[in-house]
Amino acid sequence: MLPKSAHLVVLGNEKGGSGKSTTAMHLIVALLKAGHRVASIDTDSRQLSLTRYIENRARFSRDNCLDLEVPAHYVARLAAGETVRGIEAEEFANYVEIIDRVEADFDYVVVDTPANDSYLMRLSHAMADTLITPVNDSLIDLDLFGRISPDQAGSAQVGHYAELVRNARHQRHQVDGVKMDWIVVRNRLSTLSSRNQRHLLKLLNQFAPILDFRLASGISERVVFRQFFTSGLTALDRLDKTTQGVEPTLSHLAARHEIRELVALLGPPRDRRADRAAVLPAILPRPEPHLATANE
Ligand SMILES: Nc1ncnc2c1ncn2[C@@H]1O[C@H](COP(=O)(O)OP(=O)(O)OP(=O)(O)O)[C@@H](O)[C@H]1O
Ligand SMILES: [Mg+2]
Repeated sequence: MLPKSAHLVVLGNEKGGSGKSTTAMHLIVALLKAGHRVASIDTDSRQLSLTRYIENRARFSRDNCLDLEVPAHYVARLAAGETVRGIEAEEFANYVEIIDRVEADFDYVVVDTPANDSYLMRLSHAMADTLITPVNDSLIDLDLFGRISPDQAGSAQVGHYAELVRNARHQRHQVDGVKMDWIVVRNRLSTLSSRNQRHLLKLLNQFAPILDFRLASGISERVVFRQFFTSGLTALDRLDKTTQGVEPTLSHLAARHEIRELVALLGPPRDRRADRAAVLPAILPRPEPHLATANE
């Protein structure tokens, strides 16, 4: 049997605040609770939301003798330098070193990305085995997938973020033949079904075969997804008087179910072909910019 490599799950969407970090944390805890070995990488080194969430969890666990599961966590830092090329080379080297360290020893690596289009964000997309894109129920959010006409019908014109994903997929496929699986999950859904909600669902179903993504059943707007940041707890944790002074409610249980449904869509750890770190250099370093000389 071939040795296994970590399955790299990237949370991405150029739309800010769509729920990437929150979903990343819940996936990590769900995978750990299912007995998998999980590492995590924060490439949003300005906000560091995932990093803070994990730090809070480790501290809360220690202070309350709870033995909560925590992932092996890494931060892919932004580099500073004189030239774009130099900065990207340093960020690349740092990222490859992290991937090299975790690839063989973990079943899943969960990567959180920033909303802004950065080198590390693109690199993460190009490396993903699975890309999970949380999207809010709004026409503005859907515009990044495909243009929507004034009569609110989807058009064949690919949106900005979908174009980025398409390029990342293409680059990756050319390098090692892996086809990235793209899962889109509606997030912060109102629990009351509305005409708008049904319309957006219809549009996403229309985009899915064109852009080649799978649409997961959604995640609802629930207090449980945002109330535990400072303690590092999640909807997946056992909530009782010792942990939060609250008993789990039906909403907690429903939230757990939603996250487990998303986890169930993930493929298993990969069969090891080539080290991802070894194929990476072929994926992204940009060619040296061509500078016109006086003779040209
Ligand atoms: N299902 C949910 N129910 C309720 N609140 C949510 C849910 N998902 C996310 N949130 C809240 O929405 C806000 C944005 O979430 P989050 O920070 O995870 O998004 P993000 O995509 O990582 O943002 P950014 O693009 O800035 O990195 C946070 O306040 C978070 O607590
Ligand atoms: Mg975030």
